[in-house]
Amino acid sequence: MPPTAMKTVPRRAPEITEEVAGKANADKLHRTARDFRSDTFTMPTDAQMMAALQASRGDDVYHEDPSTAALEARIAKMAGKEAALFGTSGTMTNQLAIRTHMKQPPHSVITDHRAHVHMMEAGGIAMFCQATTHGLVPSNGVHLTLEDIQPALQLGTNIHIAPTKLICLENTLSGIIFPQEEIVRIAELAKKNNIGMHLDGARAWNVAAAELEKRGLDPTSEADRTTVLSDILAPFDSASLCLSKGIGAPVGSAIVGSKEFIERARWFRKAFGGGWRQSGMLASMADYALTNFFPRLQDTHTLARRLAAGLEDAGCTILAPVDTSMVFFDPSPIGLSVNDVTQGLAALDDPIGLNANRCVIHHQTDPQAVEDFIATVQRLAAAVPENLRPPPATEKLGAKDGKFRVNALGY
Ligand SMILES: Cc1ncc(COP(=O)(O)O)c(C=O)c1O
Repeated sequence: MPPTAMKTVPRRAPEITEEVAGKANADKLHRTARDFRSDTFTMPTDAQMMAALQASRGDDVYHEDPSTAALEARIAKMAGKEAALFGTSGTMTNQLAIRTHMKQPPHSVITDHRAHVHMMEAGGIAMFCQATTHGLVPSNGVHLTLEDIQPALQLGTNIHIAPTKLICLENTLSGIIFPQEEIVRIAELAKKNNIGMHLDGARAWNVAAAELEKRGLDPTSEADRTTVLSDILAPFDSASLCLSKGIGAPVGSAIVGSKEFIERARWFRKAFGGGWRQSGMLASMADYALTNFFPRLQDTHTLARRLAAGLEDAGCTILAPVDTSMVFFDPSPIGLSVNDVTQGLAALDDPIGLNANRCVIHHQTDPQAVEDFIATVQRLAAAVPENLRPPPATEKLGAKDGKFRVNALGY
């Protein structure tokens, strides 16, 4: 195939229609289907909005909204925990959970140095808990291990250092699945030392989708989803599960944990100004997404692998394992900068959205956009003058060789 040829692939019927949602929303869905910036850009569909119309309209601060209570009960059961709390955002549910774990300074939290709770939540851990965060660099470049964490534990004997009270892991981190055996080892260490375990599971749903596929289970079966998600979350005392990322809810994230933990977190949520009133419409849209969009996550993983393979064939380096729905790429081996690629994609007649070297596939991504993306990079690479092409690298980095530059990734 010549480098500029665009492969055509079948499209799903639009789920946001001009008749129901108006022309602007219907047109916007087309843009969203070609937007690779984040899985937070998905739009509520017509059917999802209908679910909101039929939601209960009680006051959740008074515990009088059945749709919210039903969503919380469903998520708690799926997660294998006693209770759940629905909140506005992943940042809020992470910070509420961490605040609930942390009792009294001096105290500290261990995270990966790239962790969202450490780097991207506006210093919330310091602000709300008066805690120090120890951001560790994984020695294997990919994920923390027991061997990384054990020497960093502060067990309260050295008065110069704030004792470790919580280990906070992230799964997926940059789309990479954290090996469960390693999580179990870390959890055993935490338990032995009376240290809490929290998961930033903003994309734990993607881990569950990949695990269902691995075990040959059915992503449309609530029982199978429950089996897998409960296993993934078993080593943790609490987890934050975003609903407005891969799952496709417009707003919301849940904390899961023991009944006592969630009651305390609900108290903090009120103090943070996060108690909400008629939240039923948001809960029912999240509930709709869990039922209808969760089963699409496996397709997003397949599309991500297709994008990574196409970019690698075009000469880019793939920087991190493509376990789920994210692809990190480096186009410098073909003489292009990330900016060249983002501008080339933006300049298409039917533009593609990208703002960094992180590409995220979501349930509304059009497979055609993936093909157009690859063809554009091929075309841009072919146009780089011979004298500006870098010499071939002596060491191959990327998916094909299983060598990645993961420690360098950011948000
Ligand atoms: C891993 C991770 N955790 C937490 C969050 C926070 O979620 P929110 O944007 O809903 O506050 C994000 C957001 O992108 C994230 O990627």
